[in-house]
Amino acid sequence: IKSTMLIDKNFTVSEVDPRLYGSFIEHLGRAVYGGIYEPGHPTADSNGFRLDALEAIRALNVPIIRYPGGNFVSGYNWEDGVGPKSERKRLLELAWWTTETNEVGTNEFADWARLAGTEVMMAVNLGTRGIDAARNLVEYCNHPSGSYYSDLRISHGYKDPHKFKTWCLGNEMDGPWQIGAKTAVEYGRLANETAKAMRWVDPSIELVACGSSSSGMSTFADWEATVLDLTYDQVDFLSLHTYYNNNEGDSANFLAKSLDMDQFIYDVTAICDYIKAKKRSKKKLMLSLDEWNVWKSIGTSRAEELWQVAPPEFEDVYTLEDALAVGCFAITLLKHADRVKMACLAQLINVIAPIMTENGGPVWLQTTYYPYMHASVHGRGTVLQPIISSPKYDSKDFTDVPYLEAISVHNEEKNEVTIFAVNRHLTEGLALDVDLRSFGEVSIIEHIVLEHDDLKASNTKAAPANVVPHNNGNAKAEQGNVTAVLGKASWNVIRLQ
Ligand code: AHR
Repeated sequence: IKSTMLIDKNFTVSEVDPRLYGSFIEHLGRAVYGGIYEPGHPTADSNGFRLDALEAIRALNVPIIRYPGGNFVSGYNWEDGVGPKSERKRLLELAWWTTETNEVGTNEFADWARLAGTEVMMAVNLGTRGIDAARNLVEYCNHPSGSYYSDLRISHGYKDPHKFKTWCLGNEMDGPWQIGAKTAVEYGRLANETAKAMRWVDPSIELVACGSSSSGMSTFADWEATVLDLTYDQVDFLSLHTYYNNNEGDSANFLAKSLDMDQFIYDVTAICDYIKAKKRSKKKLMLSLDEWNVWKSIGTSRAEELWQVAPPEFEDVYTLEDALAVGCFAITLLKHADRVKMACLAQLINVIAPIMTENGGPVWLQTTYYPYMHASVHGRGTVLQPIISSPKYDSKDFTDVPYLEAISVHNEEKNEVTIFAVNRHLTEGLALDVDLRSFGEVSIIEHIVLEHDDLKASNTKAAPANVVPHNNGNAKAEQGNVTAVLGKASWNVIRLQ
């Protein structure tokens, strides 16, 4: 089977905001304790941060990490996580029914983020708390000095403000599972007033309002419209969350699920623009897809034994097909780079994550690490909208699914064009002919491929390199044309200069 792509440097979608390649670390399972932080681990530094995990994270070039939740934030008192560690409280944590030791809090995470070379996307608690705690947290983190909370930070050993720029106004406030869940009107009013106060403390911050927990919520779309009606002038982004899996055991349908993400983004964009029109506003709201991933253990009950400290939770083992799905999702985000300015792979370590650790043991990389890393490292610049022609298939939930899922990114600074492509065909190679006429002569830097004979192959502690990319792809360049045969069920990164 054959496909074609036409790429022209004038067919631009948008510049990529680097924050499209963000991720997420929540106080959940072993993400913080046992993941990024494990004093006593052979690789731990003097602050208890695991340097082996840090190295795997740095290689991803993650621009921003959402913290501290997730559902966790809706019951979190930030004051419990600052100040002398010996005085911090051990508390029952009601989002995940564990015990939170508070050994890691805002300042430790800021220290860690600096080491990891990433920004922090802070979330405030709009479940059990509200305006006061949120504006005090902004003052604590971002105000230089001379006020109670900024001086408190200084007394805790942090002379310089953290200057966190991006702030989430709560998390999934529409979900009945959320501590302090709200109706759209209750949330919209609270988010608006909280946003005002936070911005009066620091006018330079950017604010994200909660959209629905997923497009499957019965209140989806009405929630977005009502919340935006009440917050439009005060917020910069609306959040979207979406998770997928192949628990039904239908790989062709699973790999088509990025079409659902695509539609979700179109739908939320339309709602934002409806409110813009209604308000005769000049402001165009951007989207923050700040939770997305493959999540197989979604909806399973929390740890059986209550109130443990950092029990293993949601430690999904990812397969090749999961990596292909992640590749399709990353391509989908790039297609919408004009409106999706931030996105967070949820999550980063040990909890539905591309990076796994063992307490006291090694780090290993899941299959999904690779497409995420390739997109983050090579997908910077301007997205070019290719004209694609591909044979298509129908699956249980989707019609006209192209076997070729692809996008291209032009990095003007480096003078490189990168094509990201998934062949969704499970049994056949896909011939690809790319016309790059506006670029003149191009040559191949490398053609990276992630593939395996077994769609269900994964990496484990015992076999950490079972599914790893190689750069022996067969792409060839000739007279402004690139040809390749994309292996069955494969993720491809064709880098050109
Ligand atoms: O990422 C795991 C959880 O998924 C988050 O805590 C929550 O926001 C979502 O439901």
